[in-house]
Amino acid sequence: MRTIATITRQELAAAMQRGEVTVVDALPASYYDQMHLPGAVNLVEDEVDRRAADLLPDKNTAIVTYCSNEACRNSGNVAARLAALGYTNVRTYREGIQDWIDAGLPTESNEFVPPDVSGFLTAHGILRAQYGLLARAAREVSPSDIERISALEDHLGFMGRRLTQHHHAEDTRIWPQLRALDERLSDMLDELEQDHDEIEAMLTVVNDDRESLPLRAPALHDLHGALSRHLDREEERAVPQIQRLISQPIWALEHERFLAELGMDQVTTLVWLLGHLPPPAREAMLATLPPELQREYVEVLRPQHRRLLMLMYGADVQPTGDA
Ligand SMILES: [Fe+2]
Ligand SMILES: [Fe+2]
Repeated sequence: MRTIATITRQELAAAMQRGEVTVVDALPASYYDQMHLPGAVNLVEDEVDRRAADLLPDKNTAIVTYCSNEACRNSGNVAARLAALGYTNVRTYREGIQDWIDAGLPTESNEFVPPDVSGFLTAHGILRAQYGLLARAAREVSPSDIERISALEDHLGFMGRRLTQHHHAEDTRIWPQLRALDERLSDMLDELEQDHDEIEAMLTVVNDDRESLPLRAPALHDLHGALSRHLDREEERAVPQIQRLISQPIWALEHERFLAELGMDQVTTLVWLLGHLPPPAREAMLATLPPELQREYVEVLRPQHRRLLMLMYGADVQPTGDA
């Protein structure tokens, strides 16, 4: 089989602007309906032989196929099948719609499904609650209680990584999409980015363990205050815009990315998420995990988590409220 030529995002965007190319979305119709590149037609591998002549009557027209990302095979398969049918100018946009969205380029949708922001709001809830509890524990902890201090320092490091990652995802992926979709949001998003910079500077002080933890308690208290105000502002002003402008499939892609970036913190993050949820939601989320992990959570991870809460906060504090 001969190799199919590729096209870059820039070349494709320019060709689309000039109307020189027919774009083919090689993903299943349910994905295509939720979002696709502007003007794209939908053609999946199994239907190429039957529908190509109707959808693409000119065999010499410039055609570009795409699917989700480089790991996705559909676009290459559809392109190869078209070439085999005698189409002479077929290329693939290998990086796919994920790359297109990342670049802030517009997509079209046949339906708008609002995003499920519950995970995002849960993350905010954990940040609020944990920094409050950490600030209090840092104030109370005895400098000689090495075991408790060490647990608190570890948890501070973990929370710092989550907070930085959360802000980074907003600044580099979520806000750019909102800006591209509605330029009037620019000032509001600039302010939220400014908050992120200020919080990041406070975080550097809070996480600097050259200073003892009790001495950093006031800085932690200030960080908790600034972070809580930021999260309130974001929930009041940015979250409704996310719900208005970003559709569920795009939001789900962002969520997958976020999970992939967790790396070694994946299990710890899961345990904190489960611990934060009220019991019915916890059970529902637990049920979505592989059976071995469900068992491990119940038998090992959850008891461990409770011991950690007891050690750090002096009680089995479920992080469901502000401190
Ligand atoms: Fe946020
Ligand atoms: Fe934020």
